[in-house]
Amino acid sequence: MERPPGKVSFDNRGRVAIVTGVAGGIGWAIAQGFADSGATVYGLDLGAAPAVDERIVVVNADVSDRAQVESSVARIIGKTGGVDVLVNNAAIQPVDSFRPLHQIEPQLLEQMLRINVGGYNWVARSVLPQMIQQQSGVIVNLASAHAWRSSRDVPGYGPTKAANRMQAVQWALDYARQGVRVVSVSPGAIDTPLVRASLEKQGGEGALANRHPLGRLGKPEEIAAAVIWLASPGASFVTATDLEVDGGLGGFGSFADPYMMPSRYEKG
Ligand SMILES: NC(=O)c1ccc[n+]([C@@H]2O[C@H](COP(=O)([O-])OP(=O)(O)OC[C@H]3O[C@@H](n4cnc5c(N)ncnc54)[C@H](O)[C@@H]3O)[C@@H](O)[C@H]2O)c1
Repeated sequence: MERPPGKVSFDNRGRVAIVTGVAGGIGWAIAQGFADSGATVYGLDLGAAPAVDERIVVVNADVSDRAQVESSVARIIGKTGGVDVLVNNAAIQPVDSFRPLHQIEPQLLEQMLRINVGGYNWVARSVLPQMIQQQSGVIVNLASAHAWRSSRDVPGYGPTKAANRMQAVQWALDYARQGVRVVSVSPGAIDTPLVRASLEKQGGEGALANRHPLGRLGKPEEIAAAVIWLASPGASFVTATDLEVDGGLGGFGSFADPYMMPSRYEKG
């Protein structure tokens, strides 16, 4: 007999959320989750939004460019008068970075550091003075399963994601007494353009899904749900920590350890 699954709802009316990488798979789902719950949502991205959604204002900005970030965030705060949530989410994992370290183009390694680590610094640095003045705010950094345990051929990307987790812990300690909570979320493989672009390098969809005990890729909305809870008063005693939203992947010793094939996929 089917049991009731339960229901969760949030009320973010009057709150302002900034989401970086808003035009991507996870960023767009997070922005929509905040908009659905009544927040005023601004997104930063290099690209255009995947759909028209009048509730989400997309600001064209490169998060690795400090001047662009500072002026964009200042403009947003000038309009809204405050900022309650920052989701640091814009990051890259180029297909050509799936190689051992000495074979990755230096320029790709530099780009990953600039965007994935530097970008998180610049955007957080731009919202923190306002959050301190308010004595309130939540910052959520999108890290990754690679922040905890990695696999072969991600020597550039993996460490940047570990840095995102430690940025959250460090900032959380420094700003805890000023009303600012900082956490990170570590997704497993989520069905987004970033993962689609490298599916082949990761053994194909079936094999990648099979590495997760739940036996599938995650959905962007499942990451958004965790971020929105972490940004809510329901998580008011949660800071300086990471939440793995990974279909159980972290239960394994390594990202690289799959279940034995044949899997449930072959059983149908
Ligand atoms: N998809 C996954 O399986 C997965 C797993 C673990 C962690 N993550 C993390 O989740 C976050 C989002 O990933 P995604 O899968 O949605 O990626 P995505 O490629 O779908 O989206 C990333 C977005 O960031 C934007 N972006 C890239 N560089 C930028 C820059 N310099 N300035 C502004 N915007 C920029 C892109 O234009 C894109 O819209 C990333 O931090 C990623 O590391 C993703």
